[in-house]
Amino acid sequence: MQRAAPVEPVDGVHSVERHPVERHPAGPVEPVSRRQLLLWGAGGLAATALGTAGLVRGAVRLDGPAGGALAAPRELKSRGRNLEVQLTAARGPVRLGDGEATMLRYNGMLPGPTLRLRPGDRLKVALRNDLPEATNLHVHGLHVSPQDNGDNPFVHIGAGSTFNYEYELPADHPSGVFWYHPHLHGSVAEQVSGGLYGAIIVEDPEPIAVSRERVLMISDVSLGPSGRVQSPSFMDRMMGRMGGVLLLNGQVRPQLEARPGQRERWRVVNACVSRYLRLRLDGQQMELLGMDLGHYAVPRAVDEVFLAPGNRADLLVTTVAGTSRLRALPYNRVNMGGMGNMMGQDSGGEHTLAALVVAGQQAPAPAPVAARPASRDLRGEAPAGTRELVFSAAFGGMMGGGPVGGPDGGPAFGRFTIDGREFDPARTDVRAKAGSVEEWTLTNTSPMDHPIHLHIWPMQLIETGGRPVRDILWRDVVNVPANGQARVRIAFDDHVGRSVFHCHILDHEDNGMMAVIEVR
Ligand code: C2O
Ligand code: CU
Ligand code: CU
Repeated sequence: MQRAAPVEPVDGVHSVERHPVERHPAGPVEPVSRRQLLLWGAGGLAATALGTAGLVRGAVRLDGPAGGALAAPRELKSRGRNLEVQLTAARGPVRLGDGEATMLRYNGMLPGPTLRLRPGDRLKVALRNDLPEATNLHVHGLHVSPQDNGDNPFVHIGAGSTFNYEYELPADHPSGVFWYHPHLHGSVAEQVSGGLYGAIIVEDPEPIAVSRERVLMISDVSLGPSGRVQSPSFMDRMMGRMGGVLLLNGQVRPQLEARPGQRERWRVVNACVSRYLRLRLDGQQMELLGMDLGHYAVPRAVDEVFLAPGNRADLLVTTVAGTSRLRALPYNRVNMGGMGNMMGQDSGGEHTLAALVVAGQQAPAPAPVAARPASRDLRGEAPAGTRELVFSAAFGGMMGGGPVGGPDGGPAFGRFTIDGREFDPARTDVRAKAGSVEEWTLTNTSPMDHPIHLHIWPMQLIETGGRPVRDILWRDVVNVPANGQARVRIAFDDHVGRSVFHCHILDHEDNGMMAVIEVR
């Protein structure tokens, strides 16, 4: 089977830059009627979620019209350089469509509250675990200490107990969109897909004038007829589970409203366990300010935004009268001769995440966005060392009809490794010198993409798919394509200690595709 036609790679990250002639200066493109909204709602979603069982009484109904108004997660903002929050993780009911599902939540909310910080702030989180099993917390993308009660992925918080985290953001911490989620090896996919996630915003030193800012957290979930999150099959865990229902801030197809000519800032988080997102908002004008912790000097007009699991987009949307759909287009991350489909990957359909209704009086044109200083470029700095890291997934036994022995005597099928080894928290796999710059070649020998994430220290993507990257691109999740490579440079600045890097298809991480790094 052929991979889905690759999105034209611009700047090495697949986001599709808008061609100047394709700019839509005015007028609705692809207007959408109320009737069409109803029709989309009547389509595959319900069938996907509920299977042939149909709509059981009391089940989560997902076939209604586009859902209610988009709800913003509650915001908690630092004051006087400090933010102290209490987060309680617990199981509870969540309204989805016309029904109710049982999910996991922070503080009874889905997503958890948005934490809004500034560089130089101190964040304290008292995490109370009201789940029946252990958990912990990771602040994804923050450049903070990994030690002790900092962003320490080795912490274990038992059922019923509380742990006090404390993070200190350096005064020059990059601004951008970050997020938090549990990181207890073995149950990360389960707890994140259950609903445990929230956004973190680190504000810009110079604010950008916008009419409103929205946090948009995208996740997917598999719900059974009783409204419970469905347990993944063995294959789901191997390939990375993908839920048939996409949620935007925990809602099914909510509606967003704006006046024409307004400039909004959208902070988009791909919180899906395994789903890659190719986001389109046809009929509107999107400009990408940056991804993860990186930003362009000048925003880029784009038609499509590509987010691997864990990635975030910092977007400007300038509204055009009419109704547009925020859509997630399919992306084929598995290249296994049709096995992808057999394993429950939905490489087929696209999903509508939301409807954006733009109507009313034209807003005055927003002030231009000031250029930002260019980010540091490690291509001008000689690396102290280079490494090659090999990401593998053993599928040998599968074609032959059953698991076969791996090199260590265990089953070869379903071994997800880095340099041939599965995660062991007691072992240190990579030692790097504090203050040094290293160049890493990330090699993927498996027939599926792996989005590779390094904690604490951001990566500058310098080459992907054998082609050098043109721009200065800083990421904390870098997609390494099936049977392909990516090259990054990393500056091990500011913080020392032990942390991890791993595949952000969280089932792969839980299955062993994670390694320990120590910087000192
Ligand atoms: Cu978002 Cu180590 O994870
Ligand atoms: Cu992380
Ligand atoms: Cu992976």
